[in-house]
Amino acid sequence: MKQLMRKCVETLKPYPPGKPIEELERELGIYGSIKLASNENPLGPSPMAMRAVRDNLENMHRYPDGSAYHLREKLAGKFGLPMSRIMVGNGADELIELVAQTFLSPGEEVLIPEHSFLLYETFVLGFDGKAVTVPLSDFTVDLQAIGNAVTSHTKIVFINNPQNPTGKAITRDEISRFLHDLPPDVIVVLDEAYIEFATDPGVVSGLEFLDSYPLLIVLRTFSKIYGLAGLRLGYGFASDMITDAMNRARQPFNVNSLAQVAAAAALDDEEFVTKTLILTREGLAYLYRELDRLGLTYIPTQANFLLIKTPLGARETYDRMLRQGVIIRPMDSYGLEDCIRVNVGLPEENSRFINALESIIA
Ligand SMILES: Cc1ncc(COP(=O)(O)O)c(C=O)c1O
Repeated sequence: MKQLMRKCVETLKPYPPGKPIEELERELGIYGSIKLASNENPLGPSPMAMRAVRDNLENMHRYPDGSAYHLREKLAGKFGLPMSRIMVGNGADELIELVAQTFLSPGEEVLIPEHSFLLYETFVLGFDGKAVTVPLSDFTVDLQAIGNAVTSHTKIVFINNPQNPTGKAITRDEISRFLHDLPPDVIVVLDEAYIEFATDPGVVSGLEFLDSYPLLIVLRTFSKIYGLAGLRLGYGFASDMITDAMNRARQPFNVNSLAQVAAAAALDDEEFVTKTLILTREGLAYLYRELDRLGLTYIPTQANFLLIKTPLGARETYDRMLRQGVIIRPMDSYGLEDCIRVNVGLPEENSRFINALESIIA
């Protein structure tokens, strides 16, 4: 009898996504729930993106432009890089998977900071790689420890800046020193899904290191700041050699046509981006104030979400909040048994979250 499932797939755990509002309401028979569990944009999608989608519905019968020419051209203009160094994917998720699919051979090691976005490990294990966890230091990615953990078997390093779920960021000097000391055959993925939200001027994009470290890949997404999570669109920057390799491995039409036009329009929607940043800043100020009042410990964040320690533990807090119609994310799946993660919502959602939390821990 043949082995049906690949051995490495047997070890995988399905990704635990944020609970959809409809699912909660179906299960508990309640209405008017809110979701602050997936770091989505509480303002909805960029209005310019919505208009672009409406204007392009009649082209749905055609296959998309497999090269995403117009979108990549716009990204090239915005970021000052040649189009050949820009790639797009069905969410940053797909680009993370493509890195593993393109470069990882069975048994090769991948360094992943502790408590990282779960899909790094999923894709590494799914391609038969070896995931090596490197501890954080004070909830921050420890680049020195990662550098020390590199061996001759290390193929890829995943770093998320600012990091999900801690919201902590690393600085220009730390990145610069890390890349300078790294053996030149290690691929570094800097996942910047939340970098637009960072307010600390010491937080910089890896884009400025692309020329000095040829195996650097910088990833971004339209899911957060542009509010397009449902359309699935991530993008990345790398050398010609890296983009050429990943283009060979990807599906020919990996980004659908509506996502392409929506994203291209969203890039021009500066008003929406500004509104999102103001809402996030004000929401965080409110949440910090209220959490201080409740005497709860949290980590000040550079992203649009917040890691909070709860006296009830992650699962219990999550379950009780669900019954109040508030969906947050329990962080036990990230190895943080006593923490929850909540993203900034609309002002009324933030206060609903605080009221529910206050009532369950009372
Ligand atoms: C750190 C990190 N990287 C990547 C992603 C995936 O982004 P996308 O929606 O573009 O697949 C997320 C989504 O939550 C994330 O938190």
